[in-house]
Amino acid sequence: MNVTIFGTGYVGLVTGACLAEMGNHVVCVDIDAGKVARLEQGDIPIYEPGLEPIVARNHANGQLAFTTDPAPAIAHGQVVFIAVGTPPDEDGSADLQYVLSVAKTIGQHMDRYTVVVNKSTVPVGTADRVREAIAAELAARGATIAFDVVSNPEFLKEGDAVADCLRPDRIVVGSSSARAVDVLRKLYAPFNRNHDRMVVMDERSAELTKYAANAMLATKISFMNEIANIAERVGADVELVRHGIGADPRIGYHFIYPGAGYGGSCFPKDVQALERTARGVGYQARLLGAVEAVNHDQKTKLFELISRHFDGQLKGKTIALWGLAFKPNTDDMREAPSRRLIEALWQAGATVRAFDPEAREEAQRIYGERDDLVLCGQPHDALKGADVLAIVTEWKLFRSPDFAAIRAALKEPAIFDGRNLYEPSTVEEAGLAYYGIGRGRSL
Ligand code: UGA
Repeated sequence: MNVTIFGTGYVGLVTGACLAEMGNHVVCVDIDAGKVARLEQGDIPIYEPGLEPIVARNHANGQLAFTTDPAPAIAHGQVVFIAVGTPPDEDGSADLQYVLSVAKTIGQHMDRYTVVVNKSTVPVGTADRVREAIAAELAARGATIAFDVVSNPEFLKEGDAVADCLRPDRIVVGSSSARAVDVLRKLYAPFNRNHDRMVVMDERSAELTKYAANAMLATKISFMNEIANIAERVGADVELVRHGIGADPRIGYHFIYPGAGYGGSCFPKDVQALERTARGVGYQARLLGAVEAVNHDQKTKLFELISRHFDGQLKGKTIALWGLAFKPNTDDMREAPSRRLIEALWQAGATVRAFDPEAREEAQRIYGERDDLVLCGQPHDALKGADVLAIVTEWKLFRSPDFAAIRAALKEPAIFDGRNLYEPSTVEEAGLAYYGIGRGRSL
């Protein structure tokens, strides 16, 4: 099938590459000429495991092309995906200007029946607005061409994006048009391993499904962080509690890891946007507000532990940081807990020596050159001259470090384990003080 995708961010690029991998002819459009030029050279702007080889392979064999020119791209696609960003505007609502501008462009150039698919995370009702924007452009040029707008939210996780896209657990298709559903059934047929993964519903339910999924996951995390905060005050270990509750299949082991708070481009933005949507229709979503508030406070947790350790005297201290990305296997630092920690440490007069396997360039881009941030090439470099070590991202290479070497390198051997990676007793036996999240003894 011929497919066009607007937007070469995480969602657009991964979707394009995976659809090309399944034998479709895919054209990806982006207004950023620099990005398109880099993609043409096989230079992937994001770190995403497994993405580079499938982009390279499909680009080389002509299944995947990149362009800034919308007109031929729209003429190419039987299915046209909108996968551009929906950043939060000042009040936390999703800003639809990019989505609607693509819709307009589609209306200006479409010349036959087209299935327009919203893959961006968009507020409920956006399919209608996209439909209106396309219809207005068609009317303006006196064209009567049939089209359908489908909501087909993406559920991929950064760091696992290619695997999630190639092996989806469900494919949500929101459309009341049998013709459009039929086209998407054919497009997605190769992704239906073992059984039909397509869940067909109306547009609004599909749009809400995406927010509900992210809000549910964010709720699990904030819930667990709240339990962690209670655990440390009552002398319990949240890691044992986590095992205890996860064993109940109704609760499950996934997404109940307490930590330094959730970050990334999705959970914080989507929880806020859903809350705004609810408010807009006269409903106060108290649970969502609480999920957000707990997470906001949780992001200062590590700073509070460090500050308390030094009796509030952080001026002149050097803190080693392992992890900058909002989670492992990505270089993304959007809403990352590391940022709140770093900025709070600076404000208190401390210097940060940080290591992250992938996000150093991103940190450099965000913060530029400054004396109070040293970006190190190795985990051990970050410890040099540091007083204590804080862990913010659970990269695998931090899982079993040489604690004796850490103790020897630090001036005041203590580990602030923002992801509960270590057994407190193991760290303490190696001669370091241990602070975790919700582990009974942190207060
Ligand atoms: C999330 C969803 O998991 C995807 O299903 C969804 O498609 C995506 O948003 C999106 O809307 O595009 P992502 O933001 O890539 O994916 O990251 P997650 O793996 O979900 O992690 C989010 C944050 O939660 C991270 O900061 C992570 O450290 C934190 N987290 C996760 C916890 O603190 N505890 C947990 O138990 C799990």
